[in-house]
Amino acid sequence: MKKISLTGIKPTGDLHIGNYFGAIKPALELADEYDARYFIADYHALNTMKNPDELNSTIRHVAAGWLASGLDPEKVIFYRQSSIPEVFELTTMLMAFTSKGLMNRAHAYKDAIQKNNKKGDDTDAGINMGLFTYPVLMAADIIIFDSDVVPVGEDQVQHIEMAQDIAQSINANYGKQVLKIPRAAVQENVAVVPGLDGRKMSKSYGNVIPLFAPEKTLKKTIMRIVTNSQSVEEPKDTQVCQIFQLYKLFSDTEEQNALAGRYRAGGMGWGEAKEELFRVVNRCLAPMRERYDAIMSDIPSLNKILEQGAKKARPIAAATVARFRKAAGID
Ligand code: ADP
Ligand code: TRP
Repeated sequence: MKKISLTGIKPTGDLHIGNYFGAIKPALELADEYDARYFIADYHALNTMKNPDELNSTIRHVAAGWLASGLDPEKVIFYRQSSIPEVFELTTMLMAFTSKGLMNRAHAYKDAIQKNNKKGDDTDAGINMGLFTYPVLMAADIIIFDSDVVPVGEDQVQHIEMAQDIAQSINANYGKQVLKIPRAAVQENVAVVPGLDGRKMSKSYGNVIPLFAPEKTLKKTIMRIVTNSQSVEEPKDTQVCQIFQLYKLFSDTEEQNALAGRYRAGGMGWGEAKEELFRVVNRCLAPMRERYDAIMSDIPSLNKILEQGAKKARPIAAATVARFRKAAGID
């Protein structure tokens, strides 16, 4: 039997090329080798997104983004978290085995507390129980599908370790393997994709290159990349330049050597380097954008794909819940 790969993306904003290279592309590569289950973590997004129209459209955007990036719904079970009520039943069961202390140690919660303390606010100001118990819902997402590997970025590893802790304490309590223990799969070679200002590309820094923006917007965004004040004539260093780091993601070795040569030789301004970057980025993104636009112009078909995915996913989820209930004496 093939092993199972599972991951989710929280629909909290527009997808950018950091999401694509750091999360979507590696997950789709794993789908060749594993039985893949990929989903939209919409209840996770509810913790921060309280505007219904915005949340609704971001859910469709992320779903269309997965498909436009090449997810084949015949091959991958593709669904919305909110369509699998068993996940929330399992969450309640996991809660009984999750110490409050474990949640106190979660990075996201600790960061929120630290921010409040710095501002002199009440320690728990603005922190809802969804944020506090976030790792339990995520553990349920993972455990319910008997996942073996979870492709995620470095920032999510602590959550997977918590899912392992919770599942292990359940197995220890019942003296048998009721739940499978998952492990994180972090792609070491996917360095952090830099944003326009050279920091990690992230929607919270406002420095992103959107994945599905119209061509004109894409070009304008690339032209906004922050550079130093070197003149056209000066030779330039590929190592300290986010234009070149981004170029590497979209080009072959020959193109990279050619651009590196022009950097070394001098005589090429930043504007020209950005034009060359735009050319290769657009070459890669144009067909994806076309697929994205087509998918977004037919929301009923998109909804149908997600519903069909949920139909395939629910019996698997129900079997895990039934197994746990039996072990727990609630059958
Ligand atoms: P953001 O930082 O923009 O809020 P998310 O936290 O929603 O992005 O990330 C969703 C997924 O994309 C995660 O798996 C994360 O590791 C990955 N990711 C986000 N930004 C980058 C980046 N700049 N480089 C590589 N991977 C990224
Ligand atoms: N917490 C993840 C993120 O912020 C999203 C997510 C929710 C997830 N449930 C998951 C990822 C289960 C992997 C497995 O990016």
